[in-house]
Amino acid sequence: MAIDAQRRIAIRPMTAADIRPVQRVERAAYGPNVPRTPFEREITNGLAQYFVAVERGGEPEPPHGFDALRRLFHLGGDPDERVVGFLGLWYTVDQLHIVTIAVDPSAQTGGIGQRLLLEAFHVAAESELRTIALEVRPSNAPALHVYEKFGFAHVGRLRAYYSDNGEDALVMLTPELASAEQVALISSLREQHLARFGDAFEARDPEAETAEGS
Ligand SMILES: CC(C)(COP(=O)(O)OP(=O)(O)OC[C@H]1O[C@@H](n2cnc3c(N)ncnc32)[C@H](O)[C@@H]1OP(=O)(O)O)[C@@H](O)C(=O)NCCC(=O)NCCS
Repeated sequence: MAIDAQRRIAIRPMTAADIRPVQRVERAAYGPNVPRTPFEREITNGLAQYFVAVERGGEPEPPHGFDALRRLFHLGGDPDERVVGFLGLWYTVDQLHIVTIAVDPSAQTGGIGQRLLLEAFHVAAESELRTIALEVRPSNAPALHVYEKFGFAHVGRLRAYYSDNGEDALVMLTPELASAEQVALISSLREQHLARFGDAFEARDPEAETAEGS
């Protein structure tokens, strides 16, 4: 699933029609042994918010696989969109929790993971949450790299947290999101992302950018 140069990546809320392709991305990104996210339940959970990264625009490809079936049986969803990643967030009293984030392996290292993370920071700022937390495997070098880049620091370790292989989880937490340093970091990461990957992504709503930057 290579990214087409004429197509653009957009981030939008996950809907029921996205669940099948999202499950395919989840299996491909996390592997076959990791417990599956109950997306059907999660997208109706009022304390959660799920997003998808979709590739769209340009010349539509002839449908294949599930896309072809979707058209044949009118299963819904936009046939010109291809899900390439997703992000799951839970709200707690004053903290946003990143429950899951994944990018299809064939689309990784193209900035989609960091674009999804920027969305999480946007959501947290909009909701005036104080921090963002997550768990990550110590062996997950790409994820650790990205999280540290975004200001997350190790604050704890959960023994044998992952049921598939008994691996510990590192608990990571951002500094206060409203601190001058963290605001400057995220703003500079957003600018860097735009300069580096901007052509491959649909622009965000400028009003949302202004609200976040304030
Ligand atoms: C983590 C994940 C979402 C990142 O998505 P992505 O689209 O590849 O992310 P980006 O392209 O925005 O950024 C990847 C970064 O990781 C870096 N990276 C890639 N492989 C790496 C490795 N083996 N070690 C360290 N850094 C690595 C890239 O250089 C890039 O950083 P840079 O922009 O500073 O150069 C993706 O790897 C994934 O889906 N992994 C499987 C699911 C998963 O582990 N999710 C996280 C659970 S906590």
